[in-house]
Amino acid sequence: MPEEKKPEDIKKKGSGNVSRRTFLKDAGFVVGAPAIGTMAVSAERASAQDKAAGGQSGAGDVTAIRTEAARTIQLTVNGDKYRFAVEPNWSLRQLIRDEIGLTSPKDWCGGLGACGSCTVIMNGRPVLSCLTLACECDGAVIETAEGIAKSGHPIIQAYIDHNAFQCGYCTPGFVCTSKALLDRNGDPTEADVRDALGGNLCRCATYQQHPPAVLQAARELKKT
Ligand code: FES
Ligand code: FES
Repeated sequence: MPEEKKPEDIKKKGSGNVSRRTFLKDAGFVVGAPAIGTMAVSAERASAQDKAAGGQSGAGDVTAIRTEAARTIQLTVNGDKYRFAVEPNWSLRQLIRDEIGLTSPKDWCGGLGACGSCTVIMNGRPVLSCLTLACECDGAVIETAEGIAKSGHPIIQAYIDHNAFQCGYCTPGFVCTSKALLDRNGDPTEADVRDALGGNLCRCATYQQHPPAVLQAARELKKT
């Protein structure tokens, strides 16, 4: 596991002359940083779950059943396979954050499906993880902002280059929605981007920065 930063270390890093670009790079790394930290957590949790489940090969019984109503599901998150006993009322967001330890899916609207900050990509489509029941995700392939950042997808650099975030709270949701758009449409128009991102809200009002960032990522992807 990566060593946790102490507050004094963070303070030390933030002191002195920090250019706006350096700051934004660091801030952007907030999107990427969880990818490193949480992937390690992810592996650790996977190992714990795997142990409880008697191995990811499917052998053995899950021993971590919460109640009799819990159901066992298997899913892939950012390329890692998991097997969990989930309660019928658990949301996918709850599973990803509380059980797997990936904190990019946020909760701005209280799980009402109104803000898009909890967006992840499930089987290639952006979904609101707050409104998706975990027990319905058996066999699903999920991508979160951590996985997108770790894969080196150009949307991350494009968001940094275009200052497409301020506090960053909504950013993982925007990144997932944008990446899903680029997966299904490699040559989007600005109108396509605005339409795709219509369900994502940003309290810092960074809306004007998202279309150019997504269009830059599309251009970068075309080069590869
Ligand atoms: S938390 Fe707002 S849409 Fe899911
Ligand atoms: S960048 Fe702050 S909520 Fe969107």
